[in-house]
Amino acid sequence: MTAQPQPVLSLLDAIAQRRSARAFKPDAIATATLHEILRLGTQAPSAFNLQPWRFIVLQSADAKAKLSPCAFGQRQITEAPVVLICCGDTTAADPDNIEAVIALGQQQGAMPDAFADYMRTGIPQGMRDRPSFTHIEAWINRQVMLAVGHIALVAQAYGVDSCPMEGFSTAAIQETFGLPETLIPCCLLPLGYAADPLKQYGGRFPLDRICYGDRYGEPFPS
Ligand SMILES: Cc1cc2nc3c(=O)[nH]c(=O)nc-3n(C[C@H](O)[C@H](O)[C@H](O)COP(=O)(O)O)c2cc1C
Repeated sequence: MTAQPQPVLSLLDAIAQRRSARAFKPDAIATATLHEILRLGTQAPSAFNLQPWRFIVLQSADAKAKLSPCAFGQRQITEAPVVLICCGDTTAADPDNIEAVIALGQQQGAMPDAFADYMRTGIPQGMRDRPSFTHIEAWINRQVMLAVGHIALVAQAYGVDSCPMEGFSTAAIQETFGLPETLIPCCLLPLGYAADPLKQYGGRFPLDRICYGDRYGEPFPS
């Protein structure tokens, strides 16, 4: 029987201690740990629970070597034992996925018929009107990056380091990995155990620089 992976950090400590790793040891991630990271990471929220994220999980040296030039030779890609190509499926609001989400909700006893009907009409309408985005890439990235953030934090709680990466060529990944046009790579996420040189904490802006009060420009009350 496979041992259940045990977290080594609380979620709050994982948030505080996570750094983007720029070098990785060759040590493998246990399969059960990897599965748990992906299972918990994809508990992330998504619009209408459409879960439009798709992950190509690279573990072979051959696959990572193919990805390396697509990511401009950044060393994390070939060093990390696992690299996720985190993609968004632009067909996620199509009727078959809507029906799959409805069926999932029904299995959970959490899908009233009226809400299912609302999904069948409201989602296609929302995707036509697009009141909160202009391009499907913005919508898809909004969803996928939430899952990427969850995965990175769950991984950290299990002692597994990561590095979100946008330094890649979309066209090169799509061609190299034979992705359909409807699958958009949003982020690469190498996972593994950080090696020297370790990335130092670069700091974060104080809240009074990034938060406002009731109106834009109004100070956020301390
Ligand atoms: C969307 C995104 C894209 C990034 N792309 C890269 C990248 O291509 N290569 C890299 O080494 N780091 C990349 N980073 C890591 C950032 O440089 C890093 O998160 C930032 O400097 C803050 O450091 P920390 O994550 O260690 O706190 C990326 C981070 C994000 C969120």
